[in-house]
Amino acid sequence: MITIRKGESKDAPAIALVEKEVMKAPWPLEVFESDLGEDSPWVFLVAEEEGELLGYLDYMVTFDSSTIASLAVRKDAQRKGVATLLLDRMEEELRKEEEAVLTSTLEVRASNEPAKALYRKRGYLFVCRKKGYYEDGEDAEYYVKGLIS
Ligand code: COA
Repeated sequence: MITIRKGESKDAPAIALVEKEVMKAPWPLEVFESDLGEDSPWVFLVAEEEGELLGYLDYMVTFDSSTIASLAVRKDAQRKGVATLLLDRMEEELRKEEEAVLTSTLEVRASNEPAKALYRKRGYLFVCRKKGYYEDGEDAEYYVKGLIS
């Protein structure tokens, strides 16, 4: 059974491995060690099955808005609903915030059709294109989802 829990410092190596396998420009281990630290504003959620980390999502809440920094699922675990479970859990966590969180936003590579399909399915709406957003010059597409109707 796939379960979702909050990420902890000890998850940094496994998260960095998933990142390296599936991301075009992976963040290095040190970034995860720091972002999983106690004073970090980033919230990590990890998906596991039988103790193996399948994927992760991290997001940050700023006042009434939240931003997804990253979402990645191991190749051999893709198309099994792992990202969907992670996004469900994120929304559940956001609903528990003391101050209402009204929106979830994200940037995604313009060429990343699988991720764009996922976000559209989840109710994210395209807002605009951000020219040359990524270090290699690729544009980002900016999406937003309203969390309270
Ligand atoms: N092609 C088309 N649609 C896709 C897709 C693909 N390769 N992957 C997911 N989707 C869409 C489908 O609508 C899918 O529903 P379906 O399987 O019933 O058709 C829906 O998203 C849910 O898919 P799910 O199984 O929950 O997604 P996943 O666990 O495979 O993870 C990604 C999706 C994008 C996170 C995963 O492919 C990944 O890690 N990619 C590399 C990293 C990345 O691009 N991250 C996003 C950065 S912003």
